[in-house]
Amino acid sequence: MNRSHLLLEKQDKIAWVSINRPKKLNALNREVLQELGDLFLTLNEDQSVRVIVLTGSGEKAFVAGADISEFAEFSAIEGEALSRKGQQTVFDQIANTNKPVIAAINGFALGGGLELALSCHVRIASTNAKMGLPETSLGVIPGYGGTQRLPQLIGRGRATELIITGRMMNAEEALQTGLITQVVAQEDLLATAATLAQKIMNNSPNAIAQALKAIASGYQDGVDGYREEIQRFGACFSHPEFKEGTQAFLGKRKANF
Ligand code: COA
Repeated sequence: MNRSHLLLEKQDKIAWVSINRPKKLNALNREVLQELGDLFLTLNEDQSVRVIVLTGSGEKAFVAGADISEFAEFSAIEGEALSRKGQQTVFDQIANTNKPVIAAINGFALGGGLELALSCHVRIASTNAKMGLPETSLGVIPGYGGTQRLPQLIGRGRATELIITGRMMNAEEALQTGLITQVVAQEDLLATAATLAQKIMNNSPNAIAQALKAIASGYQDGVDGYREEIQRFGACFSHPEFKEGTQAFLGKRKANF
């Protein structure tokens, strides 16, 4: 696959993906979005990968937003198409990945950058991280799922305040609101992501995939999350990893997933 704006490294069943436009603070232009969508499609099927870590190149930014220079002249129709395509081919696709995606937020995560982190399943950040949805300062609203996913994570009141003020949160505040789950020094961020990935990989990949789907189902229109949970709970029993997990427990040994 030809990628010019993404770095990919696979090691010990972890795929490390870095958005690599540091001079533009990793802003999401057309090419980055296309490459991200294509890559996540591939990683979703890649049996050699069990956890994906998404981060930004350089020390300053995770992603400072959608590339403003690309849409500054857009019409309403073009704006709608941009949002629809981005949501469907990138942001929803990341959210629907059947293996955990960890956002390692290493600096600014603004606008589309925060929305990218919101599409991931877990977020950790370095102490220098700054997060926000400043779109209203540009005369537009978040268009890559931010008006939905931010309230789901931190509550409607806090999310509304952030969106209508456009202000940035620091890592400490983000931790308090539940937007992120850990804050560490920047030099420790990737090692922390690796430790988290290792913990996840002690568990059954099938059960993890089922759990991700069950959790997501509660936020889908017209889907009964409790019913989905019952079905997915049942489905786990016919999977060999359930046998391995329960036999390992009863045999007082560590499960080998
Ligand atoms: N789109 C396009 N280019 C961007 C960008 C974005 N979202 N964010 C940063 N850049 C570019 C800058 O234009 C600049 O390019 P240049 O060197 O060719 O002039 C480069 O990245 C470095 O950014 P700069 O603004 O000089 O860095 P800074 O440290 O002074 O400020 C930010 C950092 C994040 C506060 C500032 O870049 C910013 O406000 N970015 C836009 C954030 C935003 O509104 N995002 C939501 C978009 S929907």
